[in-house]
Amino acid sequence: MVRADTMRVVILGNGRMGRAVASVAGRTGLAVTGVLGRTEVEAGTPGATAALAAADVAVEFSTADSVPGNVARCVERGLPVVVGTTGWYERLGEVTALVRRREGAMLWGPNFSVGVALMSRAAGVLARLAVPLIRAGYEARLTEVHHARKRDAPSGTAIRLQEVLRSSGLDVGVTSERVGTVPGTHRLVLEGPSERLVLEHEARTPEVFAEGALRAAAWLRGRRGVFTFEESLEWDRAEAVAE
Ligand SMILES: NC(=O)c1ccc[n+]([C@@H]2O[C@H](COP(=O)([O-])OP(=O)(O)OC[C@H]3O[C@@H](n4cnc5c(N)ncnc54)[C@H](OP(=O)(O)O)[C@@H]3O)[C@@H](O)[C@H]2O)c1
Repeated sequence: MVRADTMRVVILGNGRMGRAVASVAGRTGLAVTGVLGRTEVEAGTPGATAALAAADVAVEFSTADSVPGNVARCVERGLPVVVGTTGWYERLGEVTALVRRREGAMLWGPNFSVGVALMSRAAGVLARLAVPLIRAGYEARLTEVHHARKRDAPSGTAIRLQEVLRSSGLDVGVTSERVGTVPGTHRLVLEGPSERLVLEHEARTPEVFAEGALRAAAWLRGRRGVFTFEESLEWDRAEAVAE
């Protein structure tokens, strides 16, 4: 039975991730008001309209071209939206402006696993310390492997890691591989003539991203503004308290 205070979630996108979010939500006792595919959402069917109206928060895992429209649909209804879709970030400025104009709430991120968030922090520290080694002849590279159906390459996560490394003084290339059903593996390699350091994250199942999306949705509920997944982890606040 669903408790009265249970968060009600509508899922935009009925692919691999949309289904994983529905499954994790069901397992953790959250109410899912609908798992909506492209046709229902774009046509605004009565079922889609009712599912959106009944939800407290939306989780969006669709395709890059659909994100701006889906965010607008949510924000117009006063529905906070968590966007997990990747490959649309050239439109982030425009979408952010829309959300702020409407005083809505959006949280976005290319990767909702806490392990990748940790990897990203660690990569920044590693990059700063590795710059002199690169000058001395070491090499750094990023590789990512994903399932064959993934549409964008490099992955949004690899692009984000590349940005983190660049802002810490390290320029690295990305190699992408698309194979089988791999949920997502990211690897940062630092290699010298006689040693090799590897920082690797391997998602074992898509559920890790679904759990992160639902945690982020609970955090976003009741807030206004545009946030990243990392902000929702509140690590900086925890560090400030510890100091
Ligand atoms: N942030 C993270 O942690 C994370 C983790 C994993 C994946 N991702 C990203 O999440 C996205 C989805 O991944 P996936 O594996 O679920 O892909 P997928 O299996 O291809 O599913 C995407 C689904 O969204 C549907 N869709 C397209 N436009 C829509 C709209 N306007 N409204 C509702 N549904 C719509 C597609 O339908 P059609 O086939 O009809 O277009 C498709 O069924 C990708 O961008 C992926 O890179 C992010």
